[in-house]
Amino acid sequence: MTSVLLTGIAELVTNDPVHDGTPLGLVHDAAVVIQGHRVAWVGPRQQAPDADDARDLGGRAVLPGFVDSHSHLVFAGDRAAEFAARMSGESYAAGGIRTTVAATRAATDEQLIANVARLGAEMRRQGTTTVEVKSGYGLTVRDEARSLVIAGLITEETTFLGAHVVPPEYADDPAGYVELVTGPMLDAAAPHARWIDVFCERGAFDEDQARAILAAGGAQGLKGRLHANQLGPGPGVRLACELGLAAVDHCTFLEAADVTALAESGTVATLLPGVEFSTRSPYPDARGLVDAGVTVALASDCNPGSCYTSSMPLCVALAVREMRMTPGEAIWSATAGGARALGRDDVGVIAPGKRAHLTVLEAPSHVHLAYRPGVPLVAEVIA
Ligand code: NIG
Ligand code: FE
Repeated sequence: MTSVLLTGIAELVTNDPVHDGTPLGLVHDAAVVIQGHRVAWVGPRQQAPDADDARDLGGRAVLPGFVDSHSHLVFAGDRAAEFAARMSGESYAAGGIRTTVAATRAATDEQLIANVARLGAEMRRQGTTTVEVKSGYGLTVRDEARSLVIAGLITEETTFLGAHVVPPEYADDPAGYVELVTGPMLDAAAPHARWIDVFCERGAFDEDQARAILAAGGAQGLKGRLHANQLGPGPGVRLACELGLAAVDHCTFLEAADVTALAESGTVATLLPGVEFSTRSPYPDARGLVDAGVTVALASDCNPGSCYTSSMPLCVALAVREMRMTPGEAIWSATAGGARALGRDDVGVIAPGKRAHLTVLEAPSHVHLAYRPGVPLVAEVIA
């Protein structure tokens, strides 16, 4: 296996506290040795070992590739008109999901594959090296299974979200839809999914339904995660903590008991500030969560309705500017935090033995991701 020595790293974010005693694990004037697909050595350039090849990155900053732990990339069409209406004063409601469901059902496999590939490539260009992708715009046995097969073309982190909303044909029989989701739809989806998710929110699925769906998924080997407390307060966050789920996502409307439950359970709170930006809504209290000792992840939630951005750099900038995270906290949450939210210890960190997923910035420091919002700072992605 060929090894490569990378030098010319003005600042390296490792997320390995061994280097400087901080969560970000910064090394200045650093070097990294990559062997095959793994990191073999990390440290100051003067101490670097020899390798077969060498590359000088020219004084740039390097960080772990972003781990985007929440996206909905399998869909057809867009909802630009809904967005424009929202920007003219209409509010965001979960119902718009059904518009995308109709378009997705009508799409060919080739159209869905092309869209997923386009969005996955867009993410990669912006520094994302690991992405979770959900189904949830098919909502039939066939369309959920094919959504997961298509998601699996770009990632191993696939999530069955048959419980996104109750589709129109079950409007009068939501219990019948939960039976479908926990029965034949789950049977068809489970071989293609690692995770199961439920949109636990008024207008989508309630606590009892979420419990039943997560339990059925668990019985088929799928690990649970939840969409919760996005549109208002509710039981979802506490349910996720009670069940010890890896992550609960959105966390926009939290009560004190939710924050306590998150801090005590270790369930990751995944914040999706692109949603609040794109729906002109109040941001979650990231500062309060971090200060309470909650593990926070940042993810894009890339979807055609509530947030059509694939950009983790944008999420970092929003987290810093709008949610009062420090640049270092936001970078950690967008990398190591995302990895925790996916139960992964091989990504989100640059350390010996971990995957060689590196994002190289056209900038000398990670701070520039927040300091220069909207600027395409990702020079290169090594993965
Ligand atoms: O995470 N909250 C539910 N699902 C998506 C929205 C999907 C849509 O509007 O199409 C979300 O925001
Ligand atoms: Fe989502």
